Amino acid sequence: MTEEVELLQSQLKGAKTKEILGFKFKTGKLNGKKVVLAETGIGKANASIVTALIIKEFSPKTIIFTGVAGAVNPDLNQGDILIGRRLSYHDYGRLTNDSLKFYPTRNPHTKQLNPQFFLSDSTLITVANKAAKGIELKKITADSPQPRVSAGTIVTGDTFVASSIAVAGFRKNYQADATEMEGAAVAQICFQQNLPFLIIRSISDKANEAAPADFQTFKKVAADNSAILVKAIIKNLE
Ligand code: ADE
Repeated sequence: MTEEVELLQSQLKGAKTKEILGFKFKTGKLNGKKVVLAETGIGKANASIVTALIIKEFSPKTIIFTGVAGAVNPDLNQGDILIGRRLSYHDYGRLTNDSLKFYPTRNPHTKQLNPQFFLSDSTLITVANKAAKGIELKKITADSPQPRVSAGTIVTGDTFVASSIAVAGFRKNYQADATEMEGAAVAQICFQQNLPFLIIRSISDKANEAAPADFQTFKKVAADNSAILVKAIIKNLE
């Protein structure tokens, strides 16, 4: 979303825009590093096409995704950051009369089944943990606690989740910590292209019945927190 790229975009030095298939890619320098910044739009299809276009057009060394997510882990609160250590779809599989049974995706190039969980690059996770020590995150309200940073599991699907029943299922079936709508798609494209990636999310809501209202209230602070960490990660990259 626009809110999720705003902070980074405002700090991009020497920005130039290239438009491809209607998507805008901004090149420039952030914290002294060459970057390409793009807003994917919402959902797996949009995230996939933008990831593919970035790879084809700009040959990046690394893909970093920044944005907001709904918490699935009850310990996570609005404004907290989750480094996506592993990512899975929650809406890919075989739909039977009983339930949706998980089935892995398939790499169209090798014809091999992909893993259930795509793993963020371990070096990038180390950089993120280090970068997290030197940042000041925005508090949700003046008297709320300082937001925390942790690493965990993200489940992705083409649904905005506003159901405590779905949250309980994600916890049980995937040991998920958060849910969103793009991460695993970006991860799958990068996995299939052998490109290191990292998914960073900040919590805007708890994916429960209050999520639609909470999302509106907290998305800007959460989006900024995710972007603050991403900026620090970029500074710490080799
Ligand atoms: N992104 C932020 N909150 C979300 C939610 N509850 N479901 C899916 N994606 C989200």
